[in-house]
Amino acid sequence: MKLATVGTSTITEHFIQSLKQEGSFTLDTIYSRDPHKAQVLAEKYGVPNTCSDWMTLLANPAIDVLYIATPNATHYGLARDAVLAKKHVILEKPYVSNLKEFESLHALATKNHVYVFDAIIPMHLPNYAILKSVLPRIGALRIINLAMVQRSSRLNSLYAGEEPAIFSLKQSGGALMDLGVYPISVLVGLFGAPQSVKYTCSTYTNGIDLNGAITLTYPTFIANATIAKDSTGLNFTVFGGDSGYLHLDKAPSQLMSVTLNQGGVLTELGEHQEGLSMVYEIKDFFGVLHGDRPERYTEWMALTRTVMAVMDECRHQVGLTFPADQEVLP
Ligand SMILES: NC(=O)c1ccc[n+]([C@@H]2O[C@H](COP(=O)([O-])OP(=O)(O)OC[C@H]3O[C@@H](n4cnc5c(N)ncnc54)[C@H](OP(=O)(O)O)[C@@H]3O)[C@@H](O)[C@H]2O)c1
Repeated sequence: MKLATVGTSTITEHFIQSLKQEGSFTLDTIYSRDPHKAQVLAEKYGVPNTCSDWMTLLANPAIDVLYIATPNATHYGLARDAVLAKKHVILEKPYVSNLKEFESLHALATKNHVYVFDAIIPMHLPNYAILKSVLPRIGALRIINLAMVQRSSRLNSLYAGEEPAIFSLKQSGGALMDLGVYPISVLVGLFGAPQSVKYTCSTYTNGIDLNGAITLTYPTFIANATIAKDSTGLNFTVFGGDSGYLHLDKAPSQLMSVTLNQGGVLTELGEHQEGLSMVYEIKDFFGVLHGDRPERYTEWMALTRTVMAVMDECRHQVGLTFPADQEVLP
């Protein structure tokens, strides 16, 4: 199955390295709007073809799958084009800008008999499955604390008066969309839709959220997620129960370990995961494309739908509106 990458930033390089390590897809083409950037990346990773014309890429019958890693606001339109060209898509997180786009894209993909996968890493990690199975060992779940704090390398350019996509309302950026999607996905994946949601955030002068606190309330427990793109801090995930707690190192995007603490006795239940954490999602997507437990796609899409609804509600509460919210979709 032949794949082309779209977007040439660091995450695409991580994806290419993961793709090569995992070994199932054939990386055929590097696409960039800039032919030189495509050439540089293709040479670096020994990829046979490059393309810098979007319509030519879409019309290429040799390409089965597009990996799209571009600014959030472009996900919907690029994925839509790909679906109409009958390409499968691996779409970077956050899937799209809002629930409305999710419903439109998902319906179109279904109609065109192609998959549009949500490249949200934690749902595919071995330690996520382990976490799910060992949660009963802490007794009644009471309180969950997750922290995802990463001072962005692009923060200084924001402070200097530029507006990188990640800090732009126009590009559907901000802390919630970039980081909040991880704890929300993990929590919705484990427990389903919450009873209620609360988002509080600090915004910059351009209106974008730089950090915030997300609270998801379930009937018998509460989950608090701290997210920040303008601060350093400790990243952790802790599930607290009445007879012990589970500590996962580090952020909810990585889940590097699953340590059970019962009365001070520590037991490591997690397994060693690959450093290139995208290998797991790549393996899962390739499996579904080849008929291995395709019902997983339906489960992943149900999860993504709820995550988009939760993020819409969070944004609504704090008045974070994207141009994508006003668009009338075809
Ligand atoms: N899974 C993860 O761990 C992870 C990590 C980081 C980012 N991400 C996600 O990956 C996506 C990209 O993030 P990023 O920070 O790398 O973004 P970025 O640097 O702003 O843009 C990535 C690439 O998109 C292309 N691009 C930019 N504007 C475009 C447009 N209007 N139309 C088409 N292509 C455009 C550019 O490639 P060319 O100039 O070569 O065309 C650029 O190199 C985001 O959705 C982000 O959430 C995921």
